[in-house]
Amino acid sequence: MTYRNDPYDPKQAALLDPAALAAAVRDARAAFAAAANPDELTALRHQYLGDRAPVSLARREIGTLPPAAKADAGKRVNEARREIEADFADRRAELDRAEAERVLVAERVDVTLPYDRRPPGARHPLTVLMDQMADLFVGMGYEIAEGPEVELEWANFDALNIPPDHPARGLMDTFHIAGRDGAADAGLVLRTHTSSVQVRTMLTRQPPIYIVCPGRVYRTDELDATHSPVFHQIEGLVVDRGITMAHLRGTLEHFARTMFGAAARVRWRPHYFPFTEPSAEFDVWFPEHRDGPRWVEWGGCGMVNPRVLRACGIDPEVHSGFAFGMGVDRTLMLRHGISEIRDLFEGDVRFSRALGAES
Ligand code: DAH
Repeated sequence: MTYRNDPYDPKQAALLDPAALAAAVRDARAAFAAAANPDELTALRHQYLGDRAPVSLARREIGTLPPAAKADAGKRVNEARREIEADFADRRAELDRAEAERVLVAERVDVTLPYDRRPPGARHPLTVLMDQMADLFVGMGYEIAEGPEVELEWANFDALNIPPDHPARGLMDTFHIAGRDGAADAGLVLRTHTSSVQVRTMLTRQPPIYIVCPGRVYRTDELDATHSPVFHQIEGLVVDRGITMAHLRGTLEHFARTMFGAAARVRWRPHYFPFTEPSAEFDVWFPEHRDGPRWVEWGGCGMVNPRVLRACGIDPEVHSGFAFGMGVDRTLMLRHGISEIRDLFEGDVRFSRALGAES
């Protein structure tokens, strides 16, 4: 078949011109490149690949061509369209990648930054330990007693059988409170031990007395690895009819086992305290000591000196009693293998956390 009577007029099929198709491809590529994000690119799709896009109109014009020219033109149009589709897909991938990166940066969370939630507070390990000690005695029927930290010299010393010229007074490095009108001494001290609470308790009530007193005490010690001018003691006092050293022994054994484990034991060494007679210092056998099982000095104890009972208005012919006192800081350090007493007072939460701070 020939189409001599159906001449091909290139102007009627202007869009099929290779230069026009190349221009359509170029325009589309430029427009896609100018799109700044995936949404802008999507909005361009219709213009360059939709029904009224140059490549689509060009395809329609194929019908106007003589059959001999159709195949060639069809190839060119398809080629141009494929190119535009490919450009579109490339640009889309590029913009998607950029968008993903932008989101990554914009929504980045630096997990190593300190978090801004306030951690819940927790009690200091010393407070927790003092409560545990007190609880143990409360479980045995004791009451908790308290006394002032600024104490009468009389309650801290005299009533405990430590008169002013007694050597024991010199041994305790005492903070004295200055008098109001510049007097050197107001008869007040920062209590050097919790034993003063024994005096206050016996003065205000009659036996039977079963008390423990955990609290802060002060001595003029320089702060170093094992000394602090403020530290903590727990004092125990029992006054009743027929109290003997056997009661004291059993009580301390139980205390030791609760604090240091079932294998803990107590040993006494003869000692002197003005407020007890007889007196002893006691050690605890601590199997889990960080340097291996050993005896460790723990506190002082004894039978309440009749002179102390009498000073506090209790008849030693009727009542007898025992007393003991030990350092709480020491106990905490022992149990946890802490060698620096300063760690207890510096307030670094890492220290409390390491000891499993309880709230
Ligand atoms: N008050 C003594 C001190 O601070 C400890 C002490 C020893 C307390 C014997 C007592 C006791 O109740 O009976 O070193």
